[in-house]
Amino acid sequence: MTDDPRSRASIMLVAGARPNFMKVAPIAAALDRAGIAHSLVHTGQHYDDAMSDSFFRDLGLRVPDFHLGVGSGSHAAQTANVMQAFEPVLLEQRPSWLVVVGDVNSTLACALVAAKLRGETGTRVAHVEAGLRSGDWRMPEEINRVLTDRLAHVLFLSSHDARENLLAEGIPEDRIVFAGNVMVDTLFLHLTRARAIGRADALGLTAGEYALATLHRPSNVDDPAALRVILEAFGELSKERGVVFPMHPRTRAMVERFELGRLMERLLVIPPEGYLDMLSLVATAAVVITDSGGLQEETTALGIPCVTVREQTERPITIAGGTNRLVGWPPNVIGILQSVRDAVDARPTYAGLGALEGWDGRAAERIVRYFEERAKCRTGSADLAASTI
Ligand code: UD1
Repeated sequence: MTDDPRSRASIMLVAGARPNFMKVAPIAAALDRAGIAHSLVHTGQHYDDAMSDSFFRDLGLRVPDFHLGVGSGSHAAQTANVMQAFEPVLLEQRPSWLVVVGDVNSTLACALVAAKLRGETGTRVAHVEAGLRSGDWRMPEEINRVLTDRLAHVLFLSSHDARENLLAEGIPEDRIVFAGNVMVDTLFLHLTRARAIGRADALGLTAGEYALATLHRPSNVDDPAALRVILEAFGELSKERGVVFPMHPRTRAMVERFELGRLMERLLVIPPEGYLDMLSLVATAAVVITDSGGLQEETTALGIPCVTVREQTERPITIAGGTNRLVGWPPNVIGILQSVRDAVDARPTYAGLGALEGWDGRAAERIVRYFEERAKCRTGSADLAASTI
């Protein structure tokens, strides 16, 4: 291994948007522990301090070796810009493996570049959090997931249900590896620190009583009728309990565009939270209302009731676990409020931290072990680049 971060590393990690950072961090740390040289690419899909840099600080992620500075744009523009900016980096670096996580535009864009350059660079794609399927092709993330999985040489699963999805799509079984949930690795690592922050207290909320709301899916926030109904439901709920609403920039823009700000007068609206503050808020909430995939999993790991403002979820394990429930489509105020009451009253069956298979804080370790075994490297050797994996 060399000290020069720009020298060729055998494994290249990609992070682009907020939900990627907590998935990449434990993999980077596990590679460090194993002494395996790796580089980190930040595409710049998310760029605000609150959406990006604060996560690097909270998670102890190192400064990216390559920052593509791509920023926002239409799906086509953003995906194309990542591809164009990433291609020369990959051609120069030629890692053995490109590790992409999750389902954002940066995930697909980098996987596609690597797949097309395979003959030239020899780089193979590994997809972490493979096989999740909502079955809803209107979601940009569903397109990103399916295509990334099709391009990947190894597909790391966070839950076993994903295996059936991949097999049904014709993915060969020998490419599928159960790893567990890397995001839960990060949650485990930081939970004590996050609890100690007491974020709810600092915001004047009573631990165990408030609702934590987040919203950013285009299907919910780009549609004025849906956004109005959901905000009305939050407003009604705020008559019963405190509602804190860290607002995503996309949502803020849409609330302004549709002039819905008055519906939020009773809510505690705050900017997007950093990782630790958010985890602190989740851990002491009475209920979380969200359309985020990550929060469905984090609440499941913590046994916090969750109401998901979506028609379906690509994460059925969160429903089976008893913590999460879906509200139907289109959303309506009474339905959302009833789901919240049901969720709070239901006292979810919660087996405890680490009870779900692979949600045990060791998923990244299993991923790194896979690379080591494939490379037939002895532990501690960084010479994956020279191997024929
Ligand atoms: C993206 C992901 C989504 C993920 C979400 C988490 C895709 C297709 N979507 O959605 O899966 O759940 O991130 O946040 O990749 N903006 C800022 N500052 C930033 C980033 C974005 O103000 O740092 C604003 C811009 O106006 C931008 C809008 O948010 O146009 C949307 O950002 P974008 O990255 O396109 O998608 P997200 O909605 O964040």
